[in-house]
Amino acid sequence: MDQPVLVEARKLSVEFTLRKPLLSRRPAPVVQAVRNMDLSIRRGETVALVGESGCGKSTLGRAMIRTAPIARGALRFDGEDITHLRGEALRSARSRFQMIFQDPYSSLNPKARIFDTLAEPLHVHGKTSRAEVRGKVSEILDAVGLSPDFAARYPHEFSGGQRQRVAIARAVILQPDFIVADEPLSALDVSMQLQILKLFDELRDRFSLTYLFISHDLARVFSFADRVAVMYLGQLVEIGRAADITANARHPYTKALLAAAPSPDPEVEATREVPVLKGDIPSPAFPPPGCRFHTRCPIAMEVCARVDPAMTDFGGGHMAACHAVHPGGPSPSRPDPTEVKKDPTA
Ligand SMILES: Nc1ncnc2c1ncn2[C@@H]1O[C@H](COP(=O)(O)OP(=O)(O)OP(=O)(O)O)[C@@H](O)[C@H]1O
Ligand code: SF4
Ligand SMILES: [Mg+2]
Repeated sequence: MDQPVLVEARKLSVEFTLRKPLLSRRPAPVVQAVRNMDLSIRRGETVALVGESGCGKSTLGRAMIRTAPIARGALRFDGEDITHLRGEALRSARSRFQMIFQDPYSSLNPKARIFDTLAEPLHVHGKTSRAEVRGKVSEILDAVGLSPDFAARYPHEFSGGQRQRVAIARAVILQPDFIVADEPLSALDVSMQLQILKLFDELRDRFSLTYLFISHDLARVFSFADRVAVMYLGQLVEIGRAADITANARHPYTKALLAAAPSPDPEVEATREVPVLKGDIPSPAFPPPGCRFHTRCPIAMEVCARVDPAMTDFGGGHMAACHAVHPGGPSPSRPDPTEVKKDPTA
């Protein structure tokens, strides 16, 4: 039976106002880092979030744990609307979600022993008995594959992989429900990546975790994720079960990412011609009209520059936003999140 939805973003938008160029009369540019995002993640599920650099993956991940400002839309967590949660209520909710970063060094205090790094969240969230904290630190070090003796050491005494294990231990020690892992493998070599991925798998089962797993590396996440969500310039362009996306991607952008993903077979990889997406990714402060991908799409049509396609549902949770794959002609327009609904009684 399907698990209940744990985290749900509804029409979520995140914007950043950039500094106005000196002497310019125009208003300060606004980056729509995340636009109109619908994404629900079920308890126990792993959703991989992929897309090129700057497309808004980290911002969406941060918004889903309430550490990026939500401009519009709503966020529900375990049935509760947490879009506007503040103060103590937000602090308390935060113990239920955590983030893991690419560079474990940035999330570890180099001057603190591992014990203190791991004990801190326990103290912050009210666990103060010495015996309880010691027990919990030993238990969590063991769970991430490190000896409890390591508690007395400092981060610089560890390898990159071990440091990432410590960062994961810190994220898991409060037994959160939801973890956003932001490129947690990128700084590691391939064999270490596989070990850390295995650890994520084990911890998911052991602590009933739910993951939003952000990655550039499509090939790596397919075997690990239940579903894959593909973002382009702040928007969701395709989502579906990992197996459906691998075998039957619909959106030209997903297809291009798949074609660019390295093959696990070194011989195939050595002779493979990598198709390069033409042109640079446009600035999210000045996105193209219509389908945001039309400036780089190999099959763009006239309608693509005018109408931003809505998602088409292909069944089984597989959806893509593209005029070329919408049955019976171009897709209707994606709803504009900035449109103010008119009051019908006015
Ligand atoms: N605090 C901020 N202030 C202004 N702009 C921001 C801020 N954070 C992110 N942005 C902009 O929002 C857009 C999305 O950034 P984000 O970091 O979410 O992308 P990403 O997909 O995670 O990229 P990468 O793969 O490089 O990590 C980018 O244009 C970025 O410059
Ligand atoms: S809508 Fe048009 S431009 Fe956008 S991906 Fe589809 S074919 Fe390409
Ligand atoms: Mg990022």
